[in-house]
Amino acid sequence: MNESLLATLADGVWHSGEALAVIAGITRAGLAKRVDKLRELGLDVEARQGLGYRLAQPLERLDAASLQDAAPSGLRVAVVDSTDSTNRQLLDAPAAEDPQALFAEYQTAGRGRRGRVWRSPYGANVYLSLAWSFAAWPPQLTALPLSVGVACARALRDAGLARAQIKWPNDLWVDRRKLGGILIEHRGEAGGACRVVVGIGINVAMSGAQADGIDQAWISLDEALAAKASRNALAAALLQRLHAVLSRFEHEGFAPFAAEWNALDLTRDQPVRISGTAPIDGIARGVDEIGALIIDGADGERRAVHSGDVSLRLA
Ligand code: BTN
Repeated sequence: MNESLLATLADGVWHSGEALAVIAGITRAGLAKRVDKLRELGLDVEARQGLGYRLAQPLERLDAASLQDAAPSGLRVAVVDSTDSTNRQLLDAPAAEDPQALFAEYQTAGRGRRGRVWRSPYGANVYLSLAWSFAAWPPQLTALPLSVGVACARALRDAGLARAQIKWPNDLWVDRRKLGGILIEHRGEAGGACRVVVGIGINVAMSGAQADGIDQAWISLDEALAAKASRNALAAALLQRLHAVLSRFEHEGFAPFAAEWNALDLTRDQPVRISGTAPIDGIARGVDEIGALIIDGADGERRAVHSGDVSLRLA
């Protein structure tokens, strides 16, 4: 990554090839190769005879120093340009440094739920992981993903989007399209230390070209707001909201968040299908105190479904 080249192009206006080569300290041929590398990262670099190069849209890079300033005290914050997966990196990081947060501008192997790939084009979205070591196993650990969903909905509200909803257990949706997702991972045996890595991906300014291949309806925060969203403002809000929710969850479990989760529920009172080993059709009735989804089945039975190995679709 060439810092000076990217810092110059970040404004989204035309820069001559000659000027860019001087700034980057390389030849014109070298510049063409660097531009190809930027395109490989998913950046949309336009080139035009007589004008030079520009990014199709301005790039707001994450500012590590101001994110650290905005973070609650005791939370370490780092920003890397590129990594395979922020979740993987924090799973391998020393627990002694928890709580710690890691943002990346780009992920080469972003992980989604159920073994899926999370598309992570450079600078387009927010990719965040936060590692947290609980002093003791918290009550209702199964509902942690739902509590994190509430924290994200709060952060989105701080960023100006009040109508985001949660699709059980913790997908972030708006206007019936997916805006973001949460992947919580942990390592270690039962009875050992209780350490989790909470991974969050939220689409902010992803273009159609960058999203090529995503096989479900998606939306970016820019589109949802019909305005340019600030990645740094969203990132700071996520740090604050997540820290507050995890601190409270540690002692009180899901109870303080259950009513808010139910108010954000996308599928409440709607016909749904749960696909698992034995699919269930029914009407979704929100979640219980441990985060299981209550379904009134077509067969008249009421069931509580856990998020482990199933997926939920609006029927
Ligand atoms: C989902 O499938 O809905 C969950 C997506 C989670 C993606 C985030 S991006 C930051 C963190 N690092 C990863 O590799 N995945 C999570």
